[in-house]
Amino acid sequence: MERMLTLFLLSPFVFCFFTIVTSQQDNVCFRPELAANIELDGLQRYFSPGEELVLSCKQGYTPVSGPRKIVCAASGKWTTTKFICIPKRCPYPDPLSNGELYYEDTVFQSTINYTCDYGYTLTGDSTAVCLANGTWSTSVPECIPVSCGLAPIPQFGMIIYDKTIRGNTIAYGVRGTYKCLPPYVVFGNARAECTVSGNWTKTPECRVVTCPPPENIDKGYMSSNDQKDYDYMETIKYGCNGDYVLEGSLQIVCQHNGNWSEKPSCKAPCSVGIQNARILYKGQKIWIKDLLPNRVLHKEIVSVYCMDKARKCGYAVQTQCIDGKLKIPECFEQPSVLDYNLNSSLLPSEIKQC
Ligand SMILES: *[C@@H]1O[C@H](CO)[C@@H](O)[C@H](O)[C@H]1NC(C)=O
Ligand SMILES: *[C@@H]1O[C@H](CO)[C@@H](O)[C@H](O)[C@H]1NC(C)=O
Ligand SMILES: *[C@@H]1O[C@H](CO)[C@@H](O)[C@H](O)[C@H]1NC(C)=O
Ligand SMILES: *[C@@H]1O[C@H](CO)[C@@H](O)[C@H](O)[C@H]1NC(C)=O
Ligand SMILES: *[C@@H]1O[C@H](CO)[C@@H](O)[C@H](O)[C@H]1NC(C)=O
Repeated sequence: MERMLTLFLLSPFVFCFFTIVTSQQDNVCFRPELAANIELDGLQRYFSPGEELVLSCKQGYTPVSGPRKIVCAASGKWTTTKFICIPKRCPYPDPLSNGELYYEDTVFQSTINYTCDYGYTLTGDSTAVCLANGTWSTSVPECIPVSCGLAPIPQFGMIIYDKTIRGNTIAYGVRGTYKCLPPYVVFGNARAECTVSGNWTKTPECRVVTCPPPENIDKGYMSSNDQKDYDYMETIKYGCNGDYVLEGSLQIVCQHNGNWSEKPSCKAPCSVGIQNARILYKGQKIWIKDLLPNRVLHKEIVSVYCMDKARKCGYAVQTQCIDGKLKIPECFEQPSVLDYNLNSSLLPSEIKQC
């Protein structure tokens, strides 16, 4: 009985096709197909019965069970084996203080990624690979707290740190306050901080600050009329003429940016635009003709009287003077001169109150 044997030989340039005719007794074994991580010596493609092959593991893999040797049997088949190769394992990595490590496995070719917590810098390698000999390619890196040098000092200035500093490095997050020698004033942000990038926030300057002569306010006066520049922190007081009322801050101050703080303003008084009626003012019920002069001040409250016609009773309604304007409530009815003269006891302010 004859058997057809087909062999494929491949090389980069030649593709050959052989047909070998052999007899039953001359059975051959073909180079066995093995798992990817098992290695075979040589390039021999077919083997005669009795020939042996020694299996080994590729770099990074460890042999498990056996036998390692397979023999080509007369049937043209290899003897069986349970030989397998498993990847080598690297030791479990040590934890990283002030940082994290990320890995999925610790076998050959696994990687570890190292990161540091916010405010720490990594020194060493940020990745490690499990090598063929079961060791990590790099040792565990370190997470070192970010620090800055001493804060830069502007001319005529100094910094006062929030905590005592030793040596000439300062930990991330430490803050300080800049001060300038008078008459210089801190221009910029007086607070400074060692940032997570290891440098200081912007250093302010020390400047001489003056404010221009202040302007008067309408219907008011100032504590000084000197047409001169004023120094940082100098103040000016304001007042209002006559019945005008000052609204805002009584005094302004020359600020570190060379501008005055916000000026106050003078608010106008109001006249109460009704006749022949009574009002309630400062807790007293008075006829409007007795309010002399007819003037209430800004923000003051006045009540006028309205009639509840259905219930035949009177009631007071409040209104407020706002910078010269006093709105008379809509329910108020202006009494006629006749009513006022002859029947004043029937006005809403005089009858029973609701
Ligand atoms: C490690 O970092 C690399 C590159 O950023 C990424 O591709 C990989 O998935 C990371 N591995 C792990 C285990 O986090
Ligand atoms: C493991 O292999 C690496 C790289 O080939 C080598 O540097 C290291 O010394 C080896 N470690 C041991 C314990 O053999
Ligand atoms: C601090 O360093 C960071 C990063 O290098 C940079 O972006 C930033 O502008 C620096 N800040 C100052 C105030 O120099
Ligand atoms: C000072 O006041 C002027 C006018 O009100 C304003 O334009 C300017 O921005 C102010 N300067 C500062 C530093 O606030
Ligand atoms: C005054 O009141 C009386 C009684 O309510 C009424 O009869 C009279 O007409 C009123 N006079 C005027 C001028 O309104």
